[in-house]
Amino acid sequence: MELVASAVRRVAAELRVGALHRMLGATGKTNVQGERVQRLDRYANAAFLESLAEGGLVAQVVSEEMDVPAQLAAHGQWTLLFDPLDGSSNLDSGAAVGSIFAVRGPQAAALGPGRDQRIAGYALYGPATLLVLASPGEGARLFALDPSTGEFVVVHERLRMPATGPVVAANAAHAATWSAADRAFMGRALSAPASTLRYSGALVADFHRILLEGGVYMYPGDDAHAEGKLRLLYEAAPLALVAEEAGGAAKAGDQAVMAIVPTSVHQRVPLVVGSRDVVAGYPG
Ligand code: AHG
Ligand code: MN
Ligand code: MN
Repeated sequence: MELVASAVRRVAAELRVGALHRMLGATGKTNVQGERVQRLDRYANAAFLESLAEGGLVAQVVSEEMDVPAQLAAHGQWTLLFDPLDGSSNLDSGAAVGSIFAVRGPQAAALGPGRDQRIAGYALYGPATLLVLASPGEGARLFALDPSTGEFVVVHERLRMPATGPVVAANAAHAATWSAADRAFMGRALSAPASTLRYSGALVADFHRILLEGGVYMYPGDDAHAEGKLRLLYEAAPLALVAEEAGGAAKAGDQAVMAIVPTSVHQRVPLVVGSRDVVAGYPG
């Protein structure tokens, strides 16, 4: 976690000066998923790789920004999986972005379900740099980066996601091509008392609000993304562990996200994640 924390510090520092360094904007390249790569996507991926290469602990890394897993230390104990910069289309408008990561054992070639994750979490680069870490049976903890010391300080020892809540996050512009069950679920969520729609376009930012306030985030399959848009290994599964450790839940169709055995490193899943009682009502 010290190595991840060091990558997060570097990304946070670069984001603060990105506009000054003219680091914002697209690189003109697309990644393995066919998405536009922002300069800060590339910077963040390099920051994670360099930080994780220290100390010979990490055997392999799986990154959204790398076509295939990379081998690091020959005798490393861990596999690190990460989305170095999540929500990068927010960059040019100065809105929140994040990093998502998970720690597994050394055998990335034979990746198991999300239940194999030993630690998972995310950083949220907003007005403050926040870090959420969860591990199985040990709950989810919230830290904030103290810019005066560079240390992460504990803000909350044991986060609890409300069992239900008002926040609904989804790209509603795609609802016309969702399944009828997905549309009906969204309709029920929106008609719950006090419900409110909040969608930033950065999964980490939208999830973090739901973790604190309760509600549901969904990115189901649609015309443009038959299997949903979000990636199992470094988006859905890490947030599923955080959600479960805080008392929430995450589903892909009628399966628990944590139970899905990946078939490829960049596999996508239709994600529904959030408050326990809300997610229990999915798909119908
Ligand atoms: P990334 O920037 O890592 O590619 O992730 C973007 C993801 C996620 O953060 C967000 O929830 C979702 O894409 C937004 O997608 P739409 O623009 O289709 O709503
Ligand atoms: Mn992402
Ligand atoms: Mn990304």
